[in-house]
Amino acid sequence: MALDKMEDLSLQQMVPRPEPGEVEGITLPKSVCSIWDQVWNFQARPDDLLIATYAKAGTTWTQETVDMIQQNGDVEKCRRATIGKRHPFLEWFIEDPLSTRYFGLELAEAMPSPRTLKTHLPVQLVPPSFWKQNCKVIYVARNAKDNLVSYYHFHRMNKGLPDPGTWEEFMEKFMTGKVLWGSWYDHVKGWWKAKDKHRILYLFYEDMKENPKREIQKILKFLEKDVNQEILNKILHNTSFEIMKENPMANYTRDFQTIMDHSISPFMRKGAVGDWKNHFTVAQNKKFDEDYKKKMADTSLVFRTEL
Ligand code: A3P
Repeated sequence: MALDKMEDLSLQQMVPRPEPGEVEGITLPKSVCSIWDQVWNFQARPDDLLIATYAKAGTTWTQETVDMIQQNGDVEKCRRATIGKRHPFLEWFIEDPLSTRYFGLELAEAMPSPRTLKTHLPVQLVPPSFWKQNCKVIYVARNAKDNLVSYYHFHRMNKGLPDPGTWEEFMEKFMTGKVLWGSWYDHVKGWWKAKDKHRILYLFYEDMKENPKREIQKILKFLEKDVNQEILNKILHNTSFEIMKENPMANYTRDFQTIMDHSISPFMRKGAVGDWKNHFTVAQNKKFDEDYKKKMADTSLVFRTEL
């Protein structure tokens, strides 16, 4: 390519889309596979709190809520750093000459206790020290259809992830589980089972949309915290979609600037339940539902796809 042409390209366009790799049959970013031994041997501390989700299930929303609780509703304290720095993304590793270096393990290790950490790992790939230390975990699940739609748009705007292909192609990949962090179906079922053995608070995105106050109260109880009504209302307000969308410390406009293009699709996209109806054709919906029934036949987990 001619040099002048190269100069025309934004940094964004020059970052190549990564190839995925695999750990124990789970598709993961190649960069994560390259440091897998370090991830697996990560040393959790007893007072670590882990926020675990399948990607696009409401991780950031939960992180902001937890931070607001931990900071007693102090908005300034919550704006001390971007969400990616406040809560290290445990397994995430990106080191590209054109992008900001991010090494979740390094951030976590350097952080004083008590730490709140984020992961998208399926339960069987969570570093064993979290279980040994009996750490608390908040897991958030979102119905498959909205989760898939959100994941598709996120792949379009995030060049740190593989190219999603067309909507139809991405839906197929999602159904076969050959997407980053593996099968949605196995992820939500695996964590659902694990909650009977470990200290896991299992939440649903749809419940959070329906009654955020009630869900915040569940988190408060789980964290053994108490706040007065005024602070509770402050948390509620500052973790609403509208406020978070405008918060540069939570909306990812200051994290991963060279790989995320919010003009393609903003990180804070719609924040709704039922947006899948604007994406699925009648035929796709039928196919998805039939396949879903089979994949979810062996669990008591029930999701709501509309409110
Ligand atoms: P959409 O793409 O459907 O809008 P994650 O943080 O796990 O990556 O999830 C991102 C999804 O959560 C996006 O969904 C985003 O808009 C939504 N989201 C983020 N903050 C939210 C909030 N305060 N209320 C509702 N949804 C929120």
